[in-house]
Amino acid sequence: MSLPGGLPQRSGPGPTEPAQRPPPAATAMGMVGVSPAMVQLRRQIAKVARADAPVLIWGESGSGKELAARAIHQASRRAAGPLVALNCGAMPASLIQSELFGHERGAFTGAHRERRGLIESANGGTLFLDEIGDLPLDLQANLLRFLQERRIQRIGAVRDIEVDVRVVAASHLRLQGEVDAGRFRADLLYRLNVLPLTVPALRERRQDLDLLSDHFFGLYAPEGPSRLQGFSEPARRALHAHDWPGNVRELINRIQRARVMADGRWITPADLDLAQAPVPDPSQRLEQVRWQAEAEALRRSLERQRHNITRTARELGVSRMTLYRLMNKHGLSSDPVGGPSP
Ligand SMILES: Nc1ncnc2c1ncn2[C@@H]1O[C@H](COP(=O)(O)OP(=O)(O)O)[C@@H](O)[C@H]1O
Ligand SMILES: [Mg+2]
Repeated sequence: MSLPGGLPQRSGPGPTEPAQRPPPAATAMGMVGVSPAMVQLRRQIAKVARADAPVLIWGESGSGKELAARAIHQASRRAAGPLVALNCGAMPASLIQSELFGHERGAFTGAHRERRGLIESANGGTLFLDEIGDLPLDLQANLLRFLQERRIQRIGAVRDIEVDVRVVAASHLRLQGEVDAGRFRADLLYRLNVLPLTVPALRERRQDLDLLSDHFFGLYAPEGPSRLQGFSEPARRALHAHDWPGNVRELINRIQRARVMADGRWITPADLDLAQAPVPDPSQRLEQVRWQAEAEALRRSLERQRHNITRTARELGVSRMTLYRLMNKHGLSSDPVGGPSP
C-alpha cells in the first residue's frame, strides 16, 4: 500500500516506533546519547585523550566505563597501538602479578617458559585496569613504581624493562573511601587521579533512554524477518520510570529478554520484566517531563509530515532553524528510516 506521494507506507506505524536514524553526533565515539551529561563526557574524553597522564574513571557498574576507556584510547595518539585490558576483580590475586608484569623462566614452580606481562604487551598503547579497587595492596606498590618510573621488572628478572604505556583505570568504588579504609594506597590514588572522569548513571541521563533503547533494539534484532516492531507506549513509560541500578548493561539485558519473550508486535512492560508505570509520574522532574514531551511532539510531527522540514516547522509553530536545533538536541534526523526522502 502506498501513500499519496509514492512513499511506501510502513506496516502499522506504532506511536513509538523509532522513526529516525540518529545523526552521527548521537553515536559519536561509539557512545549513544545526546543528553547534556553525555555531551560533556564526550568533550572530556576528547580532552584527556590528548594528554598522556593516567586517567581514573569512576561510575556505577554497567554505566559505560570500559566503553569510555576504549574511546579515550581510540581518540589518543596511541590509537594505532594496542589496548590491553585487565579486570583486577575477575582474576585471583595470586595470578595478577605475573599476568601484569610477566615472569622469567623458572621464576616460580610451573614457570616453564618466560612470559611477557600485560604491561609489556601494551607497549606503545594503553593499559586498561578495570576494577582497580580490587588490586591487592602489594601489587598496588608494584603498579605505583611502574607509574613513577615507566619501567617494570618481570618476576624473577634481574633487569628492568622500559615500557611506554598509558594507564587508564576504572572503579565503581569511591577510591578515597578505600584509602580511608586502608585498602588502597593514597599515593597510588594521587598518581592515578591526575585526570578523573565520571561516567554518569543511566538514571541521570534519562533523555537518552529512547535513543539507547532503539539502538539496542536494532542491535539485537534477529537475522531474518521479525514481527517485533518496537516499544509500546507503556513500555517506554516503564523504561523511563525504572531506576536502572544496573545502568546500560541492565537495559541491554532487558531488551534482549524482551526480544525473546514478546508475543505481540510491540514490546510490553511485562516483556521487559518491568512493572507498568503509573501515568504520569508525579515524581518526575519537570525538566524531564518537558524534555520527553518535546521529543515526543517532534517525533510525531516529523512522522505526520513525513520528515518534510518546512511542513513540520509550520505545524509546530517554530522556524526551520529552531526545528533543526531541536532535532539535533533530541538526536532526530530528517531522513525517514527505510525509504528514500521524497
Ligand atoms: N552510551 C552508550 N552507548 C552504547 N552502548 C553503551 C553505552 N554505555 C554503555 N554501553 C554498553 O553497555 C554495556 C556496559 O558498558 P561497560 O562499559 O562495560 O560498563 P562498565 O565498564 O561501567 O561496567 C556494554 O555492552 C557497553 O557497550
Ligand atoms: Mg566494566
